[in-house]
Amino acid sequence: MSQPQAGHGTFITFEGIDGSGKSTQARLLAEHLRAQGHDVILTREPGGSPGAEEIRALVLQGDPDRWSAETEILLFTAARRDHLERTINPALAAGQIVICDRFADSTRMYQGLSRGDLRATVDQLHSLMIGREPDLTVLIDMDPDTGHARAKSRQTAEERFEDFGADLQAQMRAGFLSLAQEFPERFRIIDGARAIDTVATEVAQTVSTHLSSFG
Ligand code: ADP
Ligand code: TYD
Repeated sequence: MSQPQAGHGTFITFEGIDGSGKSTQARLLAEHLRAQGHDVILTREPGGSPGAEEIRALVLQGDPDRWSAETEILLFTAARRDHLERTINPALAAGQIVICDRFADSTRMYQGLSRGDLRATVDQLHSLMIGREPDLTVLIDMDPDTGHARAKSRQTAEERFEDFGADLQAQMRAGFLSLAQEFPERFRIIDGARAIDTVATEVAQTVSTHLSSFG
């Protein structure tokens, strides 16, 4: 299986439970880095390319039982492959900083843990079809009750996973923290239960440290 070629840009992902502030922090980081003169693209999953945005609507809307966990793994991975081919890899090849709101770690958690242990299936399909990890993953950690309340206050149609409730979010939080231990070289954990600007300052410092070491 041919894998899309990696480039010389920097690939940064944000992970964490729903409502932890990933989208807010990804946007603020993009603004901060652009103000420093970096060439940045801000993207998200599921989505980030026209085809993947179509798959997004299929997976995030409708009945919570609409898809089995196995079918979801295929759909999220199909969306990711399209996103990688059309958006992420071309940007990395052009030397850009790619900031992505969620990536494969979300599939490892949401599809790999929430309905039985499918982590090995997620990892197999990942290595077959994606074969790329971020250079840096910022985990915005926060307590699930606060995250859930924030996420619910948004009132969107994309509620299939939010409807799974606070227990799932608690399981996801613990899962993300153990994933950070599994991949300590690329994960950085940031406490999201603080003011937006305080979190953003720590994210910016963390990313600057990474860029000055590897960028
Ligand atoms: P996520 O992408 O992780 O689901 P968002 O960035 O969309 O989270 O934030 C969810 C909601 O919480 C939004 O309404 C956002 O404005 C708000 N929010 C984000 N970060 C904070 C924070 N540090 N303190 C209070 N509210 C926040
Ligand atoms: P997102 O739009 O990031 O939601 P939020 O801003 O609330 O965090 O993602 C939507 C949902 O998609 C989220 O509940 C997690 C889920 N998801 C998966 O289940 N698997 C995946 O691989 C990805 C990328 C997201």
